[in-house]
Amino acid sequence: MSGTEGGLIRGLEGVVAATTRLCDLDGVNGRLAYQGYDIEDLARRSSFEEVTWLLWHGELPRPEDLSEFRRQLVEAAPLPAEALRVLKLFPKTMHPMRVLQAGVALLGGVDPDAEDDSREANLRKATRLVARVSSLTTAFHRIRIGRRPVAPRPDLSHAANFLYMLSGRKPRVVQVRAFDASLVLYAEHELNASTFTARVVASTLSDMHSAVSAAIGALKGPLHGGAGEAVMRTLEEIGQPDNADAFTGRALAEKRRLMGFGHRVYKAGDPRAKILRTLAAKACRNSPEPVWYETAIKLHEAVNREKGLIPNVDFYSAPLFKALGIPVDLFVPVIAVSRIAGWTANLLEQYADNRLIRPRADYVGPARREVRGAGRGDERP
Ligand code: ACO
Repeated sequence: MSGTEGGLIRGLEGVVAATTRLCDLDGVNGRLAYQGYDIEDLARRSSFEEVTWLLWHGELPRPEDLSEFRRQLVEAAPLPAEALRVLKLFPKTMHPMRVLQAGVALLGGVDPDAEDDSREANLRKATRLVARVSSLTTAFHRIRIGRRPVAPRPDLSHAANFLYMLSGRKPRVVQVRAFDASLVLYAEHELNASTFTARVVASTLSDMHSAVSAAIGALKGPLHGGAGEAVMRTLEEIGQPDNADAFTGRALAEKRRLMGFGHRVYKAGDPRAKILRTLAAKACRNSPEPVWYETAIKLHEAVNREKGLIPNVDFYSAPLFKALGIPVDLFVPVIAVSRIAGWTANLLEQYADNRLIRPRADYVGPARREVRGAGRGDERP
């Protein structure tokens, strides 16, 4: 080791890199709470807007705060003209996560508070980001299928408006409940890779949009949020429940990574997966394709039996999102639609108590050597 103290910790496993009031993650007992509220309680009794407010302000909103916040989200949802123009220029086949990443970067450039990094300005930017990550996702989808983007309705919640802006039809109450609960479950998760990315960018005192755009790039990867889309592709590959055992045997023999299984922190079980399983069961029963939930159950049993792996948050959200009519390549953007709450909350925390995040690397390259030989140009002073 040269110039570094202490040993290398691969993947920073177990390293504590921040203090936070936002998320209490107990990997041993499989428990998760936001600002002291258990995730199960929040998923059952609160909305995504309430959870976003809770993460930003430390308390659940009063009824008047909540209605004002909902009004602000609807008001902020329409995209600036520049963003709509750019969405129309993107190839229709471009992955929506790339669109989202570029779209957020563009929004940063035209944000009225771009040059103001006070907490008040950052809260205004965070509100616009929550509203517009949803608008960018739905508007790009509408444009790529040859339809006009749909404006949100002031009488609908954020979850309902997402489904409405996607399909142009008012969603059923049961669909909104399931989707809202999944937004609550995905909203925050401590120093996962994308949130850590956001904090690293913010620690250089770069702006909120730059940090979120980078976080979206991290979320896209298949070992992180990209797993949700990969789970659905796996379920489609399996085709039906009876094929799950044979698929699992083959996949393990080929040493394939089974998407939606395993977790860096949860070893006994991911509490979000348990709730999403119940939501998926109900949604799939009421959908034209219950086969995806039935296949997921069989795959879960087989993988658990053969390899002892537990499903993570992205496993049962796949059949749930499918049953809600969300296109498969929007599964990851949907996580961003929710996680923007946690990213922005972490950014507010980082800006309030910042220190540049700059770890060291353990050098394992060649020993010091000299540049020699013909054709390398004159020696420069
Ligand atoms: N499929 C097959 N084997 C697995 C899986 C899996 N999904 N997860 C872990 N393992 C095995 C590894 O092969 C390794 O085995 P080995 O010791 O015999 O080599 C062992 O378990 C440890 O795996 P690591 O990759 O070192 O564990 P790590 O903590 O780094 O991984 C991760 C966590 C990346 C989530 C991993 O479980 C994985 O790749 N899962 C699939 C992708 C996924 O679902 N990601 C979503 C995570 S949740 C989220 O980000 C929203």
